[in-house]
Amino acid sequence: MEMNLGEPVSGPSGAIPSRAISSKAMPLGAMPLGAMPSGAVPSGTARTITVLGCTGSVGTQTIELLASQPDAFRVRALVAGRNAKLLAEQAVALRAELAVVADPAAYAALRDALAGTGIEAAGGPAAVIQAAEMDADWTMAAITGAAGLAPTLAAIRRGACVGLANKEALVCAGDVMLRAVAMAGATLLPVDSEHNAIFQSLADGNRGAVEKIVLTASGGPFRTASLDDMAAATPEAALKHPVWSMGAKISIDSATMMNKGLELIEAARLFGLDEAAIEVLVHPQSVIHGMVYFHDGSVMAQLGSPDMRIPIAHTLAWPQRMETLSRRLDLAAVSRLEFAEPDLIRFPALRIAREALQAGGGAPTILNAANEVAVEAFLQRRIGFLDIAGTVDQVLQRLGTPKADSLDEVIGLDSLGRRTAQAIIPAIAA
Ligand SMILES: NC(=O)c1ccc[n+]([C@@H]2O[C@H](COP(=O)([O-])OP(=O)(O)OC[C@H]3O[C@@H](n4cnc5c(N)ncnc54)[C@H](OP(=O)(O)O)[C@@H]3O)[C@@H](O)[C@H]2O)c1
Repeated sequence: MEMNLGEPVSGPSGAIPSRAISSKAMPLGAMPLGAMPSGAVPSGTARTITVLGCTGSVGTQTIELLASQPDAFRVRALVAGRNAKLLAEQAVALRAELAVVADPAAYAALRDALAGTGIEAAGGPAAVIQAAEMDADWTMAAITGAAGLAPTLAAIRRGACVGLANKEALVCAGDVMLRAVAMAGATLLPVDSEHNAIFQSLADGNRGAVEKIVLTASGGPFRTASLDDMAAATPEAALKHPVWSMGAKISIDSATMMNKGLELIEAARLFGLDEAAIEVLVHPQSVIHGMVYFHDGSVMAQLGSPDMRIPIAHTLAWPQRMETLSRRLDLAAVSRLEFAEPDLIRFPALRIAREALQAGGGAPTILNAANEVAVEAFLQRRIGFLDIAGTVDQVLQRLGTPKADSLDEVIGLDSLGRRTAQAIIPAIAA
């Protein structure tokens, strides 16, 4: 079925529309009945799009979906870190208005590649923010790590409809981001497959009847490995995810299960849930992405092939749906769905993230900062695999739970968390 951008948009009658998250201040059940989605598709026109992090794993899959329906989307800005070559190719293919590379050293290559195309080129961090500030109906936030915070906030502050892949921004600056969403009337649509599954499972609108949600986890490459094997794991082994093909940072987070810890915090923020109402289940087949338990005993789940194009397309077309070429789920071929409790001894990152969420304040900011530094140190072979969670734990114990109420406090804590992790890594590595 073709996505039809010409149809009028309306929420299901008498129910909360399959509503995007527009404010943490609105806990589950508190959203107004029949409210119109603020990020609704404009009728009869091509949707204007900006992609932040267009050259990465999520970014390139977003570009593929945009290219599959050129009449439905018009690209305003594409933003990458330093890969000027791919960025220029994407900008030309999609006839973007502006292409921006964050690394100033990559600007000349971008400018030269786009010479004569009529596409504007820019470089440097300020240009990234300006691109995010440009008017666009829908913005993909797919820069990795806390580096995505400022541009994502810039898009939110103009009241944009934002497809949020960049979970670290929400973990690092949850309250600040959600206050900005509420103030600007922006709309956050969860791109992470688990959160997108919860969002879709809440589509009947009965948010007040939710008992708990379940985020599933593939278990990563070390699901069945011994602690000894994990202690000796190389970056190559940790990067080899059995199900998903993703960028390096999230692949390592999946191997330590810190990814699920970050997702736990992300879910609490997005859906206004207490930590105790969010469960994690290891599900190696990655067919069920998330489940919602309601107080009448019903369980709603979203299923699909493990393919990020499905949740990306869901947010891109929301509140309608667009066709994708994703492999259709064949349950007979899958044959068995397995589930298990996560092992918190071999995967302490999940416990550490849960404790940081319970502690609140700036603990998640510190957790995210220390984790980014520790993942980088592991990829550079400066520390072992198990030292990633060990570093994060030590940094959190050292820094406690300071406040993170303002953006300045968040930025200060992020930097303190990074410095503290850098300072203890040599001792951990010794
Ligand atoms: N991959 C997945 O399947 C998946 C699933 C769910 C959620 N996510 C989340 O989505 C985000 C992106 O993940 P990914 O796997 O797509 O990462 P990735 O492959 O590493 O891509 C990161 C993107 O961000 C760009 N970038 C890096 N630093 C930047 C900066 N300072 N300013 C502007 N752009 C910058 C990169 O540009 P260059 O290529 O030029 O360096 C690239 O386009 C992460 O937060 C991740 O947790 C990913």
